[in-house]
Amino acid sequence: MTAQPACSVTEVPEGTAHRAVIDGVPIAVVHTEGQWFAVSDICSHADVSLSEGDVDGCTLECWLHGSRFDLRTGRPSGPPATTPIPTYPVSVEGDTVFVTVA
Ligand code: FES
Repeated sequence: MTAQPACSVTEVPEGTAHRAVIDGVPIAVVHTEGQWFAVSDICSHADVSLSEGDVDGCTLECWLHGSRFDLRTGRPSGPPATTPIPTYPVSVEGDTVFVTVA
């Protein structure tokens, strides 16, 4: 388990998500309500990028069909997605966001 640099904090303003790829794994880095989260960037319903969706509190909404994923657990709050997305440990050191994928 190694934390790896994902992006700069300046790339992820409050209330937004940013796509990063670590070891070939697409990640959505999210900055919301003063907290940082890292989840899979791929929706569990279809192969679309969640970082292009809307951040609302501790949720990330898929732009295609509207399922909302809890950033703390990865669980969708409603259909059509039924499967949780992976979540990853995230930390900030200086102006760099680190994510642990594996
Ligand atoms: S592709 Fe995300 S909810 Fe359908």
